[in-house]
Parts: sequence; C-alpha cells; structure tokens
Amino acid sequence: MRILLLASAFNSLTQRVFAELRDLGHAVAVELALGDDQHLTAAVRRHDPDLIIAPMLTTAVPEEVWSACPCLIVHPGPPGDRGPSSLDRAVQQGLAQWGVTVLEAVAEMDAGPVWASADFPVPPDVGKSDLYRGELADAASRAVLLAVERFASGTYEPAMPATHTWQSYLRQEERRIDWPHDTTETVLRKLRAADSQPGVLDTFLGTEWYLHGGHPEPHLTGTPGELLATHHGAICRATTDGAVWIPELRPRRRPGDQARFKLPAVTALGNWPPLKGRGELREQPTTTESHQRTRGSYSDITYEEQGTVGFLRFHFPGGAMSTDQCRRLLTAYRETRTRPIDLLVIGGRRDFFSNGIHLNVIDAAHDPAAESLANIEAIDDLVEEILTTTDRLVVAALPGNAAAGGAMLALAADEVWCRGGAVLNPHYRLMGLYGSEYWTYTLPRRVGPEAAARLTEDALPLTATAARALGLVDRVVECGPGEFAREVARMAARLARSEGLPARLGAKKAARERDEAVRPLRAYRADELRRMRSVFDDPAAPYHALRSAFVRKRRPKETPEHLRTATREHPRTECPNGG
Ligand code: COA
Repeated sequence: MRILLLASAFNSLTQRVFAELRDLGHAVAVELALGDDQHLTAAVRRHDPDLIIAPMLTTAVPEEVWSACPCLIVHPGPPGDRGPSSLDRAVQQGLAQWGVTVLEAVAEMDAGPVWASADFPVPPDVGKSDLYRGELADAASRAVLLAVERFASGTYEPAMPATHTWQSYLRQEERRIDWPHDTTETVLRKLRAADSQPGVLDTFLGTEWYLHGGHPEPHLTGTPGELLATHHGAICRATTDGAVWIPELRPRRRPGDQARFKLPAVTALGNWPPLKGRGELREQPTTTESHQRTRGSYSDITYEEQGTVGFLRFHFPGGAMSTDQCRRLLTAYRETRTRPIDLLVIGGRRDFFSNGIHLNVIDAAHDPAAESLANIEAIDDLVEEILTTTDRLVVAALPGNAAAGGAMLALAADEVWCRGGAVLNPHYRLMGLYGSEYWTYTLPRRVGPEAAARLTEDALPLTATAARALGLVDRVVECGPGEFAREVARMAARLARSEGLPARLGAKKAARERDEAVRPLRAYRADELRRMRSVFDDPAAPYHALRSAFVRKRRPKETPEHLRTATREHPRTECPNGG
C-alpha cells in the first residue's frame, strides 16, 4: 500500500511505525503537520496515499484530508478515552494498566470509530517518555499493524466505543509539588508524569524552574523541599518522608527571554548567575562515589557482576552523553577492565542506549565549538577503549533506541544485542556532522562500504530486524522493555559459559592486530576529527544552526525532503555477514 504518515514531528513512535511498515514492503512517506491546513491538504493530494496514519499528531486533521482519504489516528489511551494528556494522567494517577487506540479521524477529536487497540502494563517506576518509547510503542505498533491489515482486507468494519470520557489537559496547577505535604511517592509520581516534558514547575532557590525526571533517594532526609546534595549532575531534595533525585532542570521562560532548555541540574544551577559560587552545590559525600557502593541511591552509571559477566549500566536522560558523562563512563569502563570477568555487557536496563554527544550542554557552553570538540574527544576515548579491549568479549545491549554517535558507540562492541522494539538511526547528516566515534572503521566493517554509505546518506530510521539483516545488529531480543535486562543477563551467562569463548578471544585479538596493521585506529580518529573540527570551527556551518534549533525544539518550516520523498527508494536489506 501507499501509506502517508502525518505527524507533528518525526518522533520515536512515528519513526518506529515508518520503519516497521517499510519492512513489511509498504511504500511509506512522511508529511509533517506544521500548522498550515492548505499546505497539508495539497501535500496529501500530491502523495495520493491509500491510507493515512497519524502516529503522533497534536492538532486536528483537516476535514479536507480525512474526507478524501481514510486517516487513522494513534491515541495514547484505551478505546473511549479522549483528550490531550491521557498518558500523563495515567502515570500521575499511578494506574497499573493503560491502552492505546487506533481510531479513524472524524470532525471531533479522538471520537472516531476504532480500528484496533492494545493494552500495556504501566510499571510503577518509569517516566512518561520512557513508557511512551517502551510499553506504549510496543502496543501502538501491534495496534497499527493490525489496523493496517484490517484496512487492507477491505471487509473490516470499525466500531464506535460504548462510551467516551474526555480528560482535560493536565495543567501545571495539577502537577505542582506540595513540598510540605507530599511524600516521596507522590513527588515521584508527579515528576514521572511530567518526564521528560513539560516538567514540573516549581519555585526553588528564588527562581522558577521546571523539574525533569525523578528517582528515589533511600538514605538522605531533610526539611521538605531543601536541597540536600548533588551527585552525577543531579540534585537531591527532601520530601516529607525521604528525598528524591532530580537529574535535569529548565529555567522558566519569561516574556522577552530566549527559549530556555533542559540541562543537567547542577550545570543549570551553576550557570544561573544568582547562584554562582554559592555553597548549595556540594557533591554528595564520597561514600557513594564508587559505582559498586551507589546501589540503592541515584547513579547514572552502575556496575554489577553475575558470575563471570560484568554489567556496566548507564542511563542518561534523552540518551545524551556530555563530556563529563563520557569521562565518568570511561573511568567506570576502565575499572571493569581490572575485574576477573570473561564478558562485559554495556547498556542500560530500559529506554535509549545513547544518542551521542550532549547537544544541550554544548549549546549552553561558553564556547560551543570547543565543547563540541571536547565532547567528541571524550566519546572517542570511550569507543577506543572498547575497541582495544581484547582480553574479554564486550556486548552492547540496546534496550531502546540509539542514534548518531550513540548508535556507532554500540558498534565498537563485539556483539550488538538489540531489543526488538528499538529504532536505530546510524547517521549524522541531519545534525550537519560528518561523524566520529570511529564510525568510518566500525560501520563498513559490519555492513560493507556500500550499505554504510547508503545508511549515512539516506538518514532514515531502521528497525532492529532490518538492522540485523544488514549486519548492524547480531541478535534481536524479542521481549517487552521490562524483561530486557533479565533476558540479556540470561543470554550473557550462556555466552560466557560457551566452550568457544577462549578461541573467540584469540581470534578477536588477532583481528584487531591485523586491522591495526592495515590502518591504525588513530588514523581513523584523526581523519574524522579533522572533518568535525572544520565544522565546529566554522560559525557558518549548518551544524550550529541545526543544533540551536534542536535544543530549542524549533519546528522545521517544512517537511524535510528525505522524509517526504522516502517512498522513492526502498532499500532492500541484504546481509554481507550472512546473518
Ligand atoms: N543531545 C541532547 N539531547 C538529546 C540528544 C542529544 N544528542 N538526543 C536526544 N536528546 C533529547 C531530546 O531533546 C529529547 O528531549 P525531551 O525529552 O526533553 O524532549 C529527548 O532526548 C528525546 O529525543 P527526541 O528527539 O524527542 O526523540 P526521538 O525519538 O523523537 O528522536 C533522535 C530521536 C535521536 C533521532 C533525535 O533525538 C536526534 O536527532 N538526536 C540528536 C542526535 C545527534 O545528532 N547527536 C549528535 C551527534 S553524535
């Protein structure tokens, strides 16, 4: 079928639906709904699709569109649920189960007949965006594919739900934390319902901030609302019965201000002129400094061993890795090299694996060009350490999406295991970058030079299955987000016990030495960095404007050409590694 995706942004769910429908052989293009109905109607006419699907649309579909072509909307709530804050409310109310519905667009929002729906569990300790990219995306994918199948059958009659319930927009007044009265559990629920956007508005240290993300602190206590400590860039604040960690802050925008964006909390506070040099920003006492000993408390990097397998877990908000985060991860990685293990697994339990360098931190830096380079050098150091680890196997385990340098970071490992629902974007072009992380070595090594060139040029998202067929991924782990860590641990234990392991390590060492003799790693790095530096140092290079637009969430003026014309090419996946 010719399917047109209509979306407010080419976000994670839209990317996933796009990639999955293409895998099924449909001709899929994307048109962004950017506020101009006439433009949209003309675009739909031009595409002339059999079916329109809107995986994430924050505005109503114009009547000219849905009356001309069947249009299916993905609504993040069960059948009959309506309104703009469905998922936020489900998380804020602490529901254990929620749903997603694919319904037909009609004049009234979310009121059309239902083509398909699916339920999903809502884990109690997960933020809204993580849930959206995880359990919800899995359920939405099932429902969309079923709806497409039913539509294609030509015989299915969509049905109206028995009742409708309108849930209004969840305003900041309802999200607000009542510090003198709210328990840790209540504070966390409010933070998670607003994570990653819009955050919870709060007055704090004399300024208005949006608080982003929330994790429980098991030991520290204090006067409710008080800033107790900082750790790994996050701040800890007391509640009535404990404390919570808040990893990121965004100052509230005042009329006439520039757009403000999220930063690691300590960086945001440190940049705030009234707070510069004040004593509140002290690091948490060093008893939790070692990764082993941070268990139970907040830490964006942890290490654990099960038998002869080490698990170096990291979880950075938005998958973005700042210079500081890369350096801390490198230190933790080097510590694992002293451990008597046969296999090291790197990657978090859920959500993003990595999205490369931290564009927000770079944009907020005094000298963004210098910070861009520092961040690239720091992530390169980490990749190099992985590439030169020859005394044990390294597995990159991707619970969720990975993009740009974050996708290439995974390729440094010996094996890449990827959750079936993950979406990969192994390219840099959309940020105006040539790319680094030794991708010129690792990507062609895995997929061959032609596929490497195509992936980086097309700049389109891939499913884990398509990535496996290309040789980019070794194993697809078909499970829900909540089961991924357990499943990976099971697979890792089996791999560590396998008889062929010593021989494999020998072959790995020999291959590294051969590759080094053909072209040393430092040559790849120098070449990539030369091109990256020329971009960073050129104020007119598109990267600077693209980065600024990305961190400030400026909408593009029109649909990017490569999405609009995606149907013209449908690269069939082939596998040079025989996988
Ligand atoms: N730096 C800073 N923040 C980043 C980031 C990065 N490299 N990558 C993602 N994020 C943030 C986003 O701003 C967003 O924040 P929000 O939750 O507050 O809105 C969050 O992570 C999720 O990203 P979003 O863009 O909403 O997710 P998506 O699934 O729609 O798209 C990507 C995923 C990876 C395609 C998109 O985020 C992207 O292009 N990131 C930049 C990748 C890049 O160019 N990295 C630098 C080169 S190595």
